[in-house]
Amino acid sequence: MKPRTTITDLQKRKRQGKKIVMVTAYDATFARIVEEAGIDVILVGDSLGMVVQGKEDTLSVTMEEMLYHTRMVASVAKKSLVIADMPFLSYQGNIDDAIQNAGRFLQCGAAAVKLEGSVVVLDRMSAMVEFGIPVMAHLGMTPQSVHQLGGYRIQARSQSAVDQLIEDAKAVESAGVFAVVLEAIPADAAEQVAASVAIPTIGIGAGAACDGQVLVLYDLLGLFDVFVPKFVKQYAHLKTSSIKALRQFRRDVESGKFPSGRESYD
Ligand code: KIV
Repeated sequence: MKPRTTITDLQKRKRQGKKIVMVTAYDATFARIVEEAGIDVILVGDSLGMVVQGKEDTLSVTMEEMLYHTRMVASVAKKSLVIADMPFLSYQGNIDDAIQNAGRFLQCGAAAVKLEGSVVVLDRMSAMVEFGIPVMAHLGMTPQSVHQLGGYRIQARSQSAVDQLIEDAKAVESAGVFAVVLEAIPADAAEQVAASVAIPTIGIGAGAACDGQVLVLYDLLGLFDVFVPKFVKQYAHLKTSSIKALRQFRRDVESGKFPSGRESYD
């Protein structure tokens, strides 16, 4: 059996120039599927607010909801590294609460937590790392700041913004985070960030130069089509095939074709 991926494996990948593959999952069934596909990292993302709960953004997702989903994923994931997203307001308050909340994810089976932002949460990141809680950072388009950013917009379009992003990436690296997600930034900006830090950069809408890639599972499987960003590639069309299967089931029940003898007990 393949041993479980660790944060040191991810850092080694960057040094070896081997790509890291990360996907979100929110429940046990999909976590099993993701693991069977050999994906390195499962992110229990607060994107569940949009793709599972049907909300317009991630802001209302609570600690209890994230812990519930993390528990489900972590209970079956044996090989992938499980990272839990810290929801809005679970780390923005005081450091003590941030550490308590981060620690609860590890108690639920996650191996690390992800926090959005840089300078403003640096003290929390380094405190978590000091207490043995591995942290992944998230820079660029940070969905928990959607209102501040004026919508889901591409970030770091000017060289000064790219320079700031590089400073932010260096700052989170100094705080001890083991990797950083770069979301919705030009490919060239991501390349500059990836070259400026020793920790792995995981891109989503950040071009090919990142050390790894992440996509939201429901996006890549074609299950969620309320909003499909340019950076999404649909590797399957499960919404379409699910509707087709369900329509067939409806027709079979209505016509008396289901259940047949094969699906009935003698
Ligand atoms: O919540 C999430 O799924 C994420 C990814 C988009 C990186 O943060």
